[in-house]
Amino acid sequence: MMTIDIITVVPALLDGPFSHSIMKRAQDKGLLTVRTHNLRKWAINKHAQVDDYPFGGGAGMVLMCEPLANAIEELQQTTTYDAIIYMTPDGKTFDQPMANQLSMLQNLLIICGHYKGIDQRIRDQFVTMEISIGDYVLSGGELAAAVVVDAIGRLIPGVLSDETSALTDSFQDNLLAPPVYTRPADFRGMKVPEILLQGDPKKVEDWRFEQSLERTKTRRPDLFKED
Ligand code: 6GU
Repeated sequence: MMTIDIITVVPALLDGPFSHSIMKRAQDKGLLTVRTHNLRKWAINKHAQVDDYPFGGGAGMVLMCEPLANAIEELQQTTTYDAIIYMTPDGKTFDQPMANQLSMLQNLLIICGHYKGIDQRIRDQFVTMEISIGDYVLSGGELAAAVVVDAIGRLIPGVLSDETSALTDSFQDNLLAPPVYTRPADFRGMKVPEILLQGDPKKVEDWRFEQSLERTKTRRPDLFKED
């Protein structure tokens, strides 16, 4: 059982992603709990202010220390977190090995930044891991958090059935997945490769491996250079 708490100023952005399909099933089966927490609940003044101008000037607002510290500390009263993750474009780029590792943990706290980010002192004091989902900038960490939670959630044992097994995913072995086909065997004259129709599992396995190699070589040669 994994629990993921997410602190955000826009909880509505996270209403959709976990309410359908595999993430919904994971929660219905009791294998995953995702809870979103509105940072405004911990605002310290009557204006429900959670952000303020950056010292030194410049554009954009910064999420303030007190609401975040109070939110984190209140959540820590009932949960011991294995990792406190801050979603930020200057974090470590998320990949499948990170998803695999995180999926083995029990309790995660994810902090979503907005505007220009969060006060550095919160990062220094509380955050144990900083994650980016790629080299581009989103307007907030919520969509990135949804990506990370989905990638982790589907790896929790029991979430995927045999048919959707994560073992054959792209990247699990540093190879892209092979092409797949379903009925009809002839679609507008375009035929499914004969080998897939013949029912020889060994030949099918070899064919898929070759296709994976070929795809990886042409699309992502960088994957061969890693490790
Ligand atoms: Cl985690 N946050 C934001 N705001 N932008 C991003 C990101 C995260 N990862 C890539 N771009």
